[in-house]
Amino acid sequence: MSEQKTMNLKLHVWRQKGPDAPGRLELYEAKEVSPDQSFLEMLDQVNEELIKADREPIVFDHDCREGICGSCSQVINGVPHGGQERTTVCQLHMRTFKDGDAIFIEPWRARAFPIIKDLIVDRSALDRIIQAGGYNSCHTGGVPAGNALLIPKPDADYAMDAAECIGCGACVAACPNGSAMLFTSAKVAQLAVLPQGKAEAATRVCAMTGAMQKEGFGNCSNHYECQAACPKGISVKFIAKLNREYQKALFK
Ligand code: SF4
Ligand code: FES
Repeated sequence: MSEQKTMNLKLHVWRQKGPDAPGRLELYEAKEVSPDQSFLEMLDQVNEELIKADREPIVFDHDCREGICGSCSQVINGVPHGGQERTTVCQLHMRTFKDGDAIFIEPWRARAFPIIKDLIVDRSALDRIIQAGGYNSCHTGGVPAGNALLIPKPDADYAMDAAECIGCGACVAACPNGSAMLFTSAKVAQLAVLPQGKAEAATRVCAMTGAMQKEGFGNCSNHYECQAACPKGISVKFIAKLNREYQKALFK
């Protein structure tokens, strides 16, 4: 059986004790890293060594570790989620790095995402945008038959494509304006094309764009960096849809 090759890496990690404390990049050695480890498992290994040495571990956010919760918000070598197409940090594997590589690890950087500690930022501004969207009208009572409300397949596919957004905030971190337009547009578009979402479409788009501005996100100026960084392939076509929905709402 052939012996698995391991790597030694130099990690430059952003350390910051709290929201108002000064931050800095600190150097750590990641030794004997397996190419089959995920990026977060590699950080776990570094943290185990730090704990053994009675040093404070690196604080980072994670939950599902399978690309669905959007928690693992890290900028790796200057790119949110590390730059591998349709891949979150937790899905990134160490085989994409080489022995001896220097890796720079930083938190999301945007005015609307204040740093809590080290690599964790407060992304609750995105939750408040969703909250502003409010409810969908629905009749209570018996369960309707599955085919009572027919939805054309292209509309269902369009809604599902928008619903892929996991609310990670990489689009905001990648945008030079710190704009949340891609996120908000995905949330608006996934409901706007479905009959269940049409009843409140006008109030929803106004409330969500209003919340987006209030939270301090910037405006979209068509850089498309959001689409490039999005781990779920959310397209900027949804931003065009958001703009159309907003204009329609203004006429109502
Ligand atoms: S649009 Fe993409 S990058 Fe932005 S929050 Fe949703 S999944 Fe993350
Ligand atoms: S930890 Fe859930 S998407 Fe990465």
